[in-house]
Amino acid sequence: MAQACPMQRAVLSWAAVALLRLLCVTAVRPSRCPRVCVCDSIQLTVTCANKNLTQVPPAINEITLKLDLKGNTIQELPTGAFQHTPYLTHLSLLRCGIQRVRVGAFRGLGRLVHLNLASNKIAILYQESFDGLSSLKQLLLDHNLVEEIQPGAFSQLSSVSLLSLAHNRLVYLPNMAFQGLQAIKWLRLSHNSLNNLAVEAFAGLFTLLRLSLDHNELQFFPTSPMTRLPELTRLELSHNPMTYLGEETVVMPKLAHLLLDHMSLQDFSQMALTSAPRLAHLDLSHNQLRILHPLLGPESLSRLNLTGNPVYCSCYLRPLMEWSIRGRVRLLGACAGPPYLSGENLGAIHPPDLRCQSQEAMLKAEMEEMNSSALLTTPQPRYKVQCPANCVCEGETNHSTCENRGHTTVPRGFPPDTSLLDLRENHFHYIPSQSFTGLAQVVSLHLQRCKIHELVQGAFSGMRSLVYLYLSENDLSVLSAEAFKGVPELTYLHLERNKFAKFPCGAFQLLPNLLVLHLENNTIANLGRGILADTKRLTGLYLAGNNISTVAPGAFEPAPALNTLHLSSNQLREVPSDALAKVANLAELRLSENPVRWVGPRAFLSLADSLKHLYLDGMGLEKMSKDSLAGLGSGLRSLLLEGNQLEALPSLSPLTGLEVINLSGNPLMCDCTLLPLRKWIESVNLKVRATCGHPPELRGKKVKDVQIFKSCPGEKPLLTPTPTTSQIVKSTKNRRIKTPKSKKPKSAHIKSPKAKKPTSAHIHKSTRLQTT
Ligand SMILES: *[C@@H]1O[C@H](CO)[C@@H](O)[C@H](O)[C@H]1NC(C)=O
Ligand SMILES: *[C@@H]1O[C@H](CO)[C@@H](O)[C@H](O)[C@H]1NC(C)=O
Ligand SMILES: *[C@@H]1O[C@H](CO)[C@@H](O)[C@H](O)[C@H]1NC(C)=O
Ligand SMILES: *[C@@H]1O[C@H](CO)[C@@H](O)[C@H](O)[C@H]1NC(C)=O
Ligand SMILES: *[C@@H]1O[C@H](CO)[C@@H](O)[C@H](O)[C@H]1NC(C)=O
Ligand SMILES: *[C@@H]1O[C@H](CO)[C@@H](O)[C@H](O)[C@H]1NC(C)=O
Ligand SMILES: *[C@@H]1O[C@H](CO)[C@@H](O)[C@H](O)[C@H]1NC(C)=O
Repeated sequence: MAQACPMQRAVLSWAAVALLRLLCVTAVRPSRCPRVCVCDSIQLTVTCANKNLTQVPPAINEITLKLDLKGNTIQELPTGAFQHTPYLTHLSLLRCGIQRVRVGAFRGLGRLVHLNLASNKIAILYQESFDGLSSLKQLLLDHNLVEEIQPGAFSQLSSVSLLSLAHNRLVYLPNMAFQGLQAIKWLRLSHNSLNNLAVEAFAGLFTLLRLSLDHNELQFFPTSPMTRLPELTRLELSHNPMTYLGEETVVMPKLAHLLLDHMSLQDFSQMALTSAPRLAHLDLSHNQLRILHPLLGPESLSRLNLTGNPVYCSCYLRPLMEWSIRGRVRLLGACAGPPYLSGENLGAIHPPDLRCQSQEAMLKAEMEEMNSSALLTTPQPRYKVQCPANCVCEGETNHSTCENRGHTTVPRGFPPDTSLLDLRENHFHYIPSQSFTGLAQVVSLHLQRCKIHELVQGAFSGMRSLVYLYLSENDLSVLSAEAFKGVPELTYLHLERNKFAKFPCGAFQLLPNLLVLHLENNTIANLGRGILADTKRLTGLYLAGNNISTVAPGAFEPAPALNTLHLSSNQLREVPSDALAKVANLAELRLSENPVRWVGPRAFLSLADSLKHLYLDGMGLEKMSKDSLAGLGSGLRSLLLEGNQLEALPSLSPLTGLEVINLSGNPLMCDCTLLPLRKWIESVNLKVRATCGHPPELRGKKVKDVQIFKSCPGEKPLLTPTPTTSQIVKSTKNRRIKTPKSKKPKSAHIKSPKAKKPTSAHIHKSTRLQTT
């Protein structure tokens, strides 16, 4: 399609550019574009909608940001389905007939913000289904067949603010169904068949503001589950078959909007809302209420909707009317009787007009009311399974928990089908051998904050399926290999916030499948040679927040799979280049907040082929050798240097693949020596955040705004470019050409200020596309 653009060499006027922009198809096929798809290499989008694709096309350009696969027939998403497109921010899989999402299907999509899985045929959300989506903000699962949410299904989604599960087949919500959604704002569960919510169904949703439960089968207001939502301001329960709300039903300190319309309410206790002080808007429209008494509790109710109720406007309604006038509550709805007031708007009625004809009629009306409010029933029974005392075992989810129940020994007698066992916050002190016999199905074991200082050999033996083990925030300082006997599948091990002063070498010999090891926030002081000798498959090693001052050469050898290494917030005084010499696949290295003052030549040379993300922020760095980044090239995506003391920088121009760079908080010396950086900033389409620290008169100015470089030798050629073919062609495609409002160019130097910045950005962009 690129050939559609005329290759002219003449200097183009703006009119011609505009015309060309119309003529050129913006969708340019980059080097890698699957045959049936449309690829836009400027916006980095790939669209393959309605193409009868049966799998995720393999040949998608790695740098793609938005991928649209809607309307295909992809029945199953395998593990790692998107591992070749790690930069995706938007992914649509709408209407793809997906039945199953394998564990780890989205692994590697750490930048994904929006995931649309609506209108598929997904029935079960497995534990860790959404593993790896750490930046995800919106997850849409509407119009599927979801009937089961396994514990931990959302445990990795710590950034999600909207989770939508409307139009599914949920009947029951188990305890902790949504655990891990630490930033959730709105949870949509509308149009399911929910009739039962476990007491802890919403546990952990501390940030939830809005909950939609409309169009379900709830017969009772879920009082206890709602108390787990301290921040909730809006609750939608419309279209549920509830018949009454009794005293103290709504215990929600911040609730402002409560929607209870289109239900079957016949009775609403005047004490129902005594623990909902902030309620401002109550919708009771389309129920069966004949009368309502003044509502106690809400201090500033402003709107009460009674539209569509058979409200009988007799003397019994007077207290409500007087209350609404006193409290300025706007009443909506109309009288259903008696005949002389029928159809009259409630808001227009004066209390004296509300009369009762006879004493008998009044008594009768009163009796009826008292009878209907006596309709209290007992809560529904629960499906019972074997379970130790002082624990809760859910037969339907195979989830057992005894969190914070004061146990001093590991309880026995959990159901053999248990797959998630949560024992956090008890006081075990040590874990004897054979503590978990008979629990061969447990995948995830939580032992956080249990004051554990010792794991006796064979502590976990028999847990053949164990994959996740959480031992964070205990008192462990040593570990023997025998402690992990009998758990060959263990993959993710959390040992952060313990008391390790030494790296527990040798402890992992019996864990051939260990991939991720968390040891943050211990007090490990140094890393000796060969500490990873037993963990050949390790991909992630997290050692931030220790006291590491020395790393022996060869410390990480061999570590053929090591991909992520976090050493931030330690006591390193230099980049441990020798230790990294043979870590051939390292993609992310974090050295932030170590007291490193100087980075010497070729510090990262051995990582040149693999490194993608380099964190050198907050270190107090004063100088980087001009060869410090030698070898790093188009592969590097992020370079974080903020919060240092750098006055100058090595050349960044080989880093043609950069997507994130941060230079803020460095006191750059803005004189002619900085000209190469300034030119580089002008040539890339990135937010660089560089400011001058010297000389004093320029302190705080953005490097790209200062004029001083005009007088430097070597500046002129850059500012009078001769347009090349590629500039012309590319400039016609960029829809985001910036107008130079903020710039004050000196016209003597700049012939065509409008064209300058965008075209140089295009040169950069086109080289980037060719090199990837
Ligand atoms: C997809 O398949 C259907 C039926 O086999 C066919 O009618 C339709 O044209 C195909 N669409 C595309 C884009 O190939
Ligand atoms: C009151 O309820 C009716 C019926 O549900 C609805 O149409 C109307 O918008 C509501 N009015 C207000 C102000 O909420
Ligand atoms: C209310 O209930 C009592 C017995 O509990 C019954 O005698 C009476 O008829 C009922 N009144 C009405 C109006 O339903
Ligand atoms: C619980 O375990 C049983 C037996 O292992 C299994 O059939 C069932 O699918 C499990 N339920 C869930 C929700 O995982
Ligand atoms: C380590 O400690 C720091 C500082 O208290 C904290 O911000 C970080 O979240 C901790 N990390 C872990 C994994 O515990
Ligand atoms: C950290 O290491 C230094 C020696 O390098 C030692 O003096 C200090 O006590 C250690 N700090 C902790 C918290 O272990
Ligand atoms: C850049 O660094 C500054 C200072 O630490 C920080 O406030 C900002 O959020 C960073 N920006 C990015 C994109 O990392």
